[in-house]
Amino acid sequence: MRPVSAPWLAAVAAIFSRDVADTAQLDPVDMFGLPSRDVIINEMPLVDTLGRPLRNLRLSVTDRCNLRCQYCMPEMEYAWLPRTDVLRLEEINRLVGIFIEAGVDKVRLTGGEPLLRRDVPALVRMLSATGRLQDIALTTNGILLSQFARPLREAGLHRVTVSLDTLRPDRFLALSRVDSHAAVLEGIRSAREVFGHIKLDAVVLRGTNDDEIVPLMEYAKANDAEIRFIEYMDVGGATGWSFEQVVGRQEILEVLARAYGTIEDVHEDSSAPAQRFRLPDGTVFGIVASTTTPFCRTCDRSRLTADGLWYRCLYATGGLDLRGPLRAGHSDAHIRSLIDEAWRARDDRGAERRLEERDRSTFIPRDALRTDPHLEMHTRGG
Ligand code: GTP
Ligand code: 5AD
Ligand code: SF4
Repeated sequence: MRPVSAPWLAAVAAIFSRDVADTAQLDPVDMFGLPSRDVIINEMPLVDTLGRPLRNLRLSVTDRCNLRCQYCMPEMEYAWLPRTDVLRLEEINRLVGIFIEAGVDKVRLTGGEPLLRRDVPALVRMLSATGRLQDIALTTNGILLSQFARPLREAGLHRVTVSLDTLRPDRFLALSRVDSHAAVLEGIRSAREVFGHIKLDAVVLRGTNDDEIVPLMEYAKANDAEIRFIEYMDVGGATGWSFEQVVGRQEILEVLARAYGTIEDVHEDSSAPAQRFRLPDGTVFGIVASTTTPFCRTCDRSRLTADGLWYRCLYATGGLDLRGPLRAGHSDAHIRSLIDEAWRARDDRGAERRLEERDRSTFIPRDALRTDPHLEMHTRGG
């Protein structure tokens, strides 16, 4: 998208100014020698009602997962997306192309577990071939990573984040119901070999793994990884969520300060969910404090589900169907106009709204999750 130059800004300000109540009386072409209002709207950066741009797109490529983590997918069986609804790679790639036109320059592949879709490297190759994405990343549980790290890298993937909540195999089994801890560590080893630096995500749960904050930090240091400690969120599938189980940012910082000494803020202007900090030895780590300190005010992220619904907030209960228009043969321009219109109307700040609620318990009741798989975190991408 072309940047709006200063004379344009003045013209746009005049056209949209409240003082100029009836813009129909003004012909912008005559007054300023400029194109019409519609053209100006199309050339303006796409922002929502809170001035937030559309930049970060999370692509959930499958709703399936090979773990059953207590904080995400605690049930054994779920209502799965019908297979015929799941977008083909070419369909995902076409939608991403339209999103790029609308301003997206960062894409993250998620799931469910994205690597359960074995053709993910082919998707990465297509996305990379656009040459217009600043960042192509993947969030994975790591189980299949040793097999996929190299093909993903060769396809053009820039970055990998692996979930690692515990260093203890017995705990991993209790937390995820699957005995695959060794496979995850192997996946991390391969990813390091191929990508060099990686990120690790650890959701901290009181009474489950909150005694591993320092050991996990040590593991990250030893493996040249940036670890992010994540506050337990009450999103979709977290049916067992309660505030008592949340270990907040402040508490995590206190534990680390006791072990390592004074912790510094890393000051950066960023829309990323993780706030970054530095230990006295220079090690940088992050805390994703979505529960106690939401970052909605700067949130530029949205999510596309595997079946082509577009969610403008992690907490949104409804998404915009893009699969319908895509499969009905509508043009890119038409789909782009749907995206633009929906983003301009966006006023979501789900995590902040949850914080304002008293008597907070799980966000979505179990029965509702059974009838609509889109309400699940694993469907819309963690
Ligand atoms: P970077 O680009 O490396 O900053 O990645 P990321 O932090 O965006 O991605 P990752 O998949 O590692 O997400 C880490 C955590 O951030 C997730 O586990 C969520 O808890 C939280 N998170 C991700 N997206 C959102 C979001 O849209 N809203 C909120 N409130 N939290 C989010
Ligand atoms: N709270 C916080 N993080 C969660 N994730 C999944 N469910 C939750 C939750 N309820 C995380 C996963 C992974 C990322 C994609 O989302 O651990 O790191
Ligand atoms: Fe963005 Fe919604 Fe997450 Fe807030 S809760 S940061 S608005 S996705």
